[in-house]
Amino acid sequence: MAKAKVVVTGGTGYIGSHTLVELIEKGYEVVVIDNLNNSYANTLQQVKEITGKLPQFYCFDLCDKNALSQFFEQEKNIDAIIHFAALKAVGESVDNPLLYYHNNIVSLIYLLEAMKVNQINHLVFSSSCTVYGQPDKLPVSENAPLKLPESPYGKTKQIAEQIIADVCFTSPLQVISLRYFNPIGAHESALIGEFPIGAPNNLVPMITQTAVGIREKLLVFGSDYDTKDGSCVRDYIHVVDIAQAHVIAIERLIQQKNKKNYEVFNLGTGHGYTVLETIQTFENVTGVKLNYEITGRRSGDVEKVYADTQWANKELGWKAQRNLDNMLQTAWNWQLKLNELNMKQDD
Ligand code: NAD
Ligand code: WQD
Repeated sequence: MAKAKVVVTGGTGYIGSHTLVELIEKGYEVVVIDNLNNSYANTLQQVKEITGKLPQFYCFDLCDKNALSQFFEQEKNIDAIIHFAALKAVGESVDNPLLYYHNNIVSLIYLLEAMKVNQINHLVFSSSCTVYGQPDKLPVSENAPLKLPESPYGKTKQIAEQIIADVCFTSPLQVISLRYFNPIGAHESALIGEFPIGAPNNLVPMITQTAVGIREKLLVFGSDYDTKDGSCVRDYIHVVDIAQAHVIAIERLIQQKNKKNYEVFNLGTGHGYTVLETIQTFENVTGVKLNYEITGRRSGDVEKVYADTQWANKELGWKAQRNLDNMLQTAWNWQLKLNELNMKQDD
């Protein structure tokens, strides 16, 4: 029997491209929408190199309603959509909140409207652990109360989840929101990975860019948190584990195994590592010494957060398989590949 057809918005991006590989390897037909705001079309050639299949690609902005309608006029028999497309830089969202509310919320509304018109009822949505803020209880489970996120970016994820839940309540729409903790690492082929355009904000690209000599040193933000070594704790999770969870979520919706119209799952490993432990692990697995300096706290940082994964393990039947060593080794292999290809990363 032919496998389902899945539209992947944000499919040329970091998590989207890894998910394309997992979907194609499971036999799904994939169609990508992306406006290349934070990614490159060439990523799809890399996906082809891994899987032997070049995904079909539509380059347009999801906030362009006409382009979206034309897309659905052209592409028929769509079984499900995975909606990765969003802007995700926390600091930029503080400086330019309207850009973030417009891009992340308007695109979602247009997509939901188009899904309704075209009677497409299955959606997997990219949410984030940012919706928990600093949780009162750790590990944090899906039914923990949501705190007001520090950034407009985080707020777009909370608002998006609310919009989706409201629509599910009054329509045939079936949605799974996946709340990712801290996705890192890259595909084992080193053909796809995270490609930050401009200076990265996130820890692991900062580590690998420093280690390879693009940046002089890594600043460790804070040494006086209430953690084992004073630096913040996060639940780092391999991007391929995240990608595989999306395939399981899609299967769950298409096979109508979901228990409610709207379901939410945490995607983490359940283990928290401090920033200093992460640096130490990087040095151990790669043998590269990192030039770092401890400095003051970064505003808006949560002290510690890691996932309760029991619900995802039991109900989704998914469990992260890859450890921190593997995450950092693959991130490093990817960094070396970017350097070998002379990709510009020093903005
Ligand atoms: P990414 O920037 O690599 O990928 C997002 C893609 O969406 C990019 O290719 C970008 O060009 C595209 N895009 C953005 N706005 C668009 C629009 N209006 N129309 C069409 N395309 C658009 O980011 P990622 O790390 O792959 O993140 C994917 C999703 O996961 C995002 O929704 C993000 O908020 C969420 N998320 C990411 C993380 C993380 O740390 N990477 C953590 C939690 C949640
Ligand atoms: C991790 C730790 C920093 C850079 C962000 C978003 C969140 C989610 C995941 C999308 C923190 C420390 C970092 C550096 C450092 N994304 N750090 N030096 O802040 O947990 O989460 O990405 O939804 O919404 O906020 O990830 O990688 O930026 O930071 O010491 O140069 O590393 O202080 O403790 P964060 P991060």
